[in-house]
Amino acid sequence: MVPDTLPKVSLGHFPTPLEELTRLSDLLDGPRIFIKRDDLSGLAFGGNKVRKLEYLVGDALSRRADTLITAGAVQSNHCRQTAAAAARCGLACELLLGGNEPEVPTGNLLLDKMLGAALHFSDAGRKGEALEGLAASLKSAGRSPYIVPYGGSNAVGGVGFVLAMQELATQLTAHEISVDRVVFASSSGGTHAGLVVGGAVTGFRGKLTGIRIDKEDSRNESYRELLPQLAGQIAELLGISGTFHESLFELNEEYVGEGYGIPGKLEREAISLLARSEGILLDPVYTGRAMAGLLGLIRKGTISATEHVVFWHTGGSPALFAYPPESFL
Ligand SMILES: Cc1ncc(COP(=O)(O)O)c(C=O)c1O
Repeated sequence: MVPDTLPKVSLGHFPTPLEELTRLSDLLDGPRIFIKRDDLSGLAFGGNKVRKLEYLVGDALSRRADTLITAGAVQSNHCRQTAAAAARCGLACELLLGGNEPEVPTGNLLLDKMLGAALHFSDAGRKGEALEGLAASLKSAGRSPYIVPYGGSNAVGGVGFVLAMQELATQLTAHEISVDRVVFASSSGGTHAGLVVGGAVTGFRGKLTGIRIDKEDSRNESYRELLPQLAGQIAELLGISGTFHESLFELNEEYVGEGYGIPGKLEREAISLLARSEGILLDPVYTGRAMAGLLGLIRKGTISATEHVVFWHTGGSPALFAYPPESFL
């Protein structure tokens, strides 16, 4: 399905495990819940970005780039994984981080530094607003930069999640499990759009429910408009026909709370429940919120006890060490 001509580097450990959360299901008196462990995908504490970076870094190397540049929040998992991918492939890495430099680097920021990335802090935004400018200044200094877009979410990165859906379909068939719904964090769009294209390719009949993480749209379009556009671009790159209308994207916006990176009571409860019932650590920004969404949908009956659900654990645990203990205890 993915053309051999699409450059790729191997960076992660795939397939990631698919496990059943029996204790959580019992506690909720709820549906059977499975978890797709992309937190175990390897590359500097793992996470969903490894799948995207395998194609993005492949593209960068095929264009003879010597530097990866990307952007994100100060605690961006995407930036940490890009820095790790660069180190692994012998490339330099420059990160544009939105906000001020904290006195003491913690969590992902500490890891960015350990991985050797050059850091630029700016209040101008955390979604790659200044990436072109940084690329131009690196080029004029004789470097060959490759822009990895915010969240790794463009057609090239999204291909990783088309394959992820195929990987899940293979596991479900092997274990003879039928699934009614997959629930995951949806933020810059590559994961969501890739899963929807992958769902179409594999004939997945269940729902793909993205839990929105970030209230803010990007500069150019609303998030709801971005998802079908991105899916169309991914499909085009793969030579898949068909249109991806906005109605194909289930995006639940009920759990964004106080906004990006601000965990509240619901995230705290979700993180604690998973830790204590299953020994699995979620993160404060993405998977804690996505799990809060899953718990909420089960408790209000939107997801019934007869459904079979997969929760996609997209990683992010290093950010646990950047928040005060009272966020979790
Ligand atoms: C841990 C984690 N989960 C989920 C996401 C969301 O994925 P996407 O940006 O593809 O929507 C991110 C994005 O940074 C992330 O770091």
